Amino acid sequence: MNVLIIGSGGREHALSWKVAQSPLLSKLYIAPGNAGTLNLGENVDIDTSDFNRVKGFCLSNSIDMLIVGPEIPLVEGIVDFFRNDTQLENIRIIGPDQHGAMLEGSKEFAKEFMEKYSIPTAAFKSFNKEKSEDAREFLKEINSPYVIKADGLAAGKGVLILDDLDIAYNELDEIFSGKFGNAGNKVVIEDFLKGIELSVFILTDGNSYLILPEAKDYKRIGEGDTGLNTGGMGAVSPVPFAGTEFLDKVENNIIKPTMRGLKEEGINYKGFIFIGLMNVAGDPYVIEYNVRMGDPEAEVVIPRIKSDLLDIFKAVSDGTLNEKQLEVDERSVTTLMLVSGGYPEAYKKGYKVDGIEDVKDSIVFHAGTKMDSEDILTNGGRVLALSSYGNNFRDALEISYQNAAKINFKDLYFRKDIGFDL
Ligand code: AMP
Ligand code: GLY
Repeated sequence: MNVLIIGSGGREHALSWKVAQSPLLSKLYIAPGNAGTLNLGENVDIDTSDFNRVKGFCLSNSIDMLIVGPEIPLVEGIVDFFRNDTQLENIRIIGPDQHGAMLEGSKEFAKEFMEKYSIPTAAFKSFNKEKSEDAREFLKEINSPYVIKADGLAAGKGVLILDDLDIAYNELDEIFSGKFGNAGNKVVIEDFLKGIELSVFILTDGNSYLILPEAKDYKRIGEGDTGLNTGGMGAVSPVPFAGTEFLDKVENNIIKPTMRGLKEEGINYKGFIFIGLMNVAGDPYVIEYNVRMGDPEAEVVIPRIKSDLLDIFKAVSDGTLNEKQLEVDERSVTTLMLVSGGYPEAYKKGYKVDGIEDVKDSIVFHAGTKMDSEDILTNGGRVLALSSYGNNFRDALEISYQNAAKINFKDLYFRKDIGFDL
């Protein structure tokens, strides 16, 4: 099969790394890819937000499968675009249609879906701009901390958790005045869930599903989970506190009703579902759905999959996933993100990355890099993810830290306390 992967981060490098190991693969293309994916396939410089360009590329390169890494093309309807074009009908796509992608693209849609299918989640109300007085009234009725979420995609910044009512009013005004653009034309206000977070992932063909290894990521920039939210500074899999009893609850109370909901809503879902969870005193509650793999979660989950992922993707697309089983590596995998100084706020790009060739026993997934003749240059906030195996997450992490010490670029930063709360 000829495969095109859309995206440029660590997640797409991890997907490329795994797909490249499949005997079913003929040729791999990554659009746009990064300096890491260059060694696994051909990076393609096309504007993937222009679906006609993606179509043209797929037709002229006999692409058999399109794997969509990030959420934006899914929310913008790339699957529907392909499915409604007879020239593209033989191309398999991993990702949900636009209706399914609303599970990530609209918080209100996701919350209403969960309410309808009795999926445990924080109690909520949604308000559009015209109802800002009602939203203020609601904030006054509930207890702090106040959780306010912009309805639409806001690059991971659209969730605010505030202790003070006046600050909550103020933020509400700012959201309705366009702080997050159109994503904030509507807000969801919900109860605060107290617990510890983790994520569970499934791959589904719309009928059956495979549960992938669970993971926990570390979203804040600062040690002890302080400071601004980032895309993720590190991750571990498995998650020590997610025992069989807890994961059974996730399957029975969350995954099964989610599948039932997709079917009853007539959603054509062939792809990943990332279920962000809060473990509240041993019971799982859904914080959010994402319609893709996580990043950096992919950099720990994918290395633990022993099965041929391309073969599984094929079954996802053919609707024969019930015939497949997932073989999982029992070992732990941790990943450590090396980021640019300043991230997640302003940072500089274009610094030379040294030392990758000295790394031993970790997989170096590139998150934000580009090749400049012989040099690898930083090209994003998150630059490299160092993924390592171990008998437990501490052993694995130790290897990632040893290797981190060998890497150099100007203003490099990483958290030294991944897994501190486990
Ligand atoms: P989201 O973008 O929905 O994942 O939210 C970002 C982060 O906000 C989550 O990873 C949680 O840490 C936190 N969060 C979101 N919703 C809640 C909630 N209802 N209670 C507590 N924390 C939450
Ligand atoms: N690491 C969180 C995410 O991918 O959304």
